[in-house]
Parts: sequence; structure tokens; C-alpha cells
Amino acid sequence: MMLGIIEVFIVLVASLLILQFLKLQWMRNQLPPGPAPLPVFGNLWLLNFKLRRETLLTNTYGNIYTVWLGQSPVVVLNGYKAVKDGLVTHSEELSGRPLTPFYADMMGIFLTSGHTWKQQRRFGMTVIRSLGLGKNSLEHQIQMEASHLVDNFANTKAKVQREIEAVLEPSQLISYEDRKKLPYTNAVIHETLRYSNITSVGVPRQCVRNTTLLGFPIKQGTLVLPNLHSVVYDSEHWEAPWKFNPDHFLDLDGNFVNKEAFLPFSAGHRVCLGEQMARVELFIFFTSLLRAFTFQIPEGVKEINLEYILGAILQPHAYKLCAIPR
Ligand code: HEM
Repeated sequence: MMLGIIEVFIVLVASLLILQFLKLQWMRNQLPPGPAPLPVFGNLWLLNFKLRRETLLTNTYGNIYTVWLGQSPVVVLNGYKAVKDGLVTHSEELSGRPLTPFYADMMGIFLTSGHTWKQQRRFGMTVIRSLGLGKNSLEHQIQMEASHLVDNFANTKAKVQREIEAVLEPSQLISYEDRKKLPYTNAVIHETLRYSNITSVGVPRQCVRNTTLLGFPIKQGTLVLPNLHSVVYDSEHWEAPWKFNPDHFLDLDGNFVNKEAFLPFSAGHRVCLGEQMARVELFIFFTSLLRAFTFQIPEGVKEINLEYILGAILQPHAYKLCAIPR
């Protein structure tokens, strides 16, 4: 009996799907374990078609596992130990960035790999250095910017203000060095960066040569996602990760303590190039604003929406705040 065009088409599609399924099963055996991928969709249905920190944190498959974003396997590193193994111990091997059709036209330092990235990174570092960070000239620009910003607004607690008042003169120019005298303020800034980690699950890397992560062989070209959210919320490293608590960065005597799992800027070869600049800016702006203003939500407003908006980075919803000169 002759098959009609529709039947031929159905048989063809079914065979392709079966072949694809078998291929995926074969590829799965070469990768760390993870949920079974479907042809075409991979595990996207499991992730609700989004790379959200909540879905990736599920510890069903341990600290290293594979999820399939459509047809592409991504090896996810979960928790401080696994992320450190990827970003620090195998820093060089994981220094690539995957290029997807979505941003193939953009070739900035954020997205390049190999030789081009090395050149751009070296150039970027020269630029940052020429701004004079550490030699005070960038710090001076930030101080000036902060004094303009004081005309504007922000948010936090009386405890920070009491600490600032006790340590700094009202008109004294605030310098980054002052953080050492303001442990509580410094802890609040660190806790904000941890709790509201803006890059969510971090930025994917690509393996530039064959390597081994936590005992699993990983082939050159494999996409790896060191899940930064799982590090700054790792319950083995933070007393109460889901609570905003500056004590995470303070010892019992109120001294500031740095934490190894504080990695909002990532780590290793591709660590955020602007880390130092961001740290100086945040400290000087935040301290200047809180010295000059008390911030509160407008009368009648009961609460503000603390959910994030998922974009290239996590953003807050718009909200109104009153800045009352002190
Ligand atoms: C709170 C502020 C910031 C946070 C939390 C942050 C975080 C990050 C993270 C997680 C990465 C990805 C690193 C990786 O691949 O593992 C990154 C990369 C990068 N950041 Fe930042 N960043 C901040 C501010 C800045 C600023 C102010 C600048 C510029 C002056 C900057 C410039 C860059 C660049 C150029 C890269 C790409 C580096 C590379 O691929 O080699 N960042 N950042």
C-alpha cells in the first residue's frame, strides 16, 4: 500500500525524533548526571523556559549536574566547593565564554574568548589602572560624584548612621580606607551584595580545553555555569542565607570578617573587571548618602515589592523613597 505524503512526513519526523533521542542518551553518558533531556526542548520544560536561580538551586543532582537548554548541555556547578573547583582550580580551562546567536554581533570583553579576550582583558586592566584606582584619582572622582548624589536618595538603618556619626566628621570627604573604621556599614554593603546578588546565577563559561571537574571529565567546548547564587546562598557557609543579616560579615565583637563564599563578583581569570571600582563606589556613595539623609518609604505606603525583575541582571521594581535631610 502506498503511503501518503502526510504519513511519510510523520514517519520521517518520528524517526528523526528517535534518532535525536538516542543521540542525546549517548551524549548524556559523557556528561555529569542530570534530568533526561527531550529532543528539541532538552530540559527547558523543567526550568519553565527560564534560567532562574530558584529552579537551578534544586539540589536533586548534587553539586555538579547537566541541564539541557534545548540541544545544548550546560554543566552546572552548585555550591561554594564546586564553583571554587571550576572558577579557581580550573580557572584557565574555564576561561571561555559561549557565543550564542543572541549576541553573536556583540564582541565586547564580556563575550569574547581566547586570544581576543586576553587582549581585551589586558587593555581593560590598563584602562582601569590608568583611572588611578588605588592611587586615589578614581577615588577622588567617586568622592565628587558622591557629593552630587547626596542631592538625591537611597535606603537603610539608624545603626549605620550612628556608626558613621561616631567615626566621621560631618563634612569630611569619605575615603575607601574609612571602611576599616566602619565595620557595620561595610557589613551592610557586603550583605546587600550577597543577598541581592545582581547577576543571579552568574555568567556561563566555556571550557577551552578538556578538563576534569569534581572527578567528571568535561570536554573542550562544553558550557559550564558556575552558579554564583548557590555560593552566596550556600547554607554550609552562611548561617541564614535567606535572611538579610549583616552579622554574616561580623564576628562576635563586631569586627568585619571577609567570607570565602562571598563571590558576587565571581573569581579566577575572568573575575569581574570592575570589582574594585564597584566596591569603592558602593562604599563612598552609600556612606555619603546615609550621612546626609534619613531614608523612609512615603507616608501611607505599607510595603515595597522586593521581588526582582529578571533581565540581563536582576533589577528592583520601581519604588518611591523619601530622602529627609538630617
Ligand atoms: C555590584 C557591581 C558588580 C557586580 C556584582 C559584577 C559582577 C560581575 C560578574 C559576576 C561577572 C562575570 C564573571 C565571570 O565570568 O565569572 C562580571 C564580569 C565583568 N564585569 Fe562586573 N560586576 C559589577 C560591576 C562592574 C563594573 C562597575 C564594571 C566596569 C567598570 C564591570 C565590568 C565587568 C567586565 C568588563 C566583565 C567581563 C570580564 C571578562 O569576561 O573577562 N563590572 N561582573
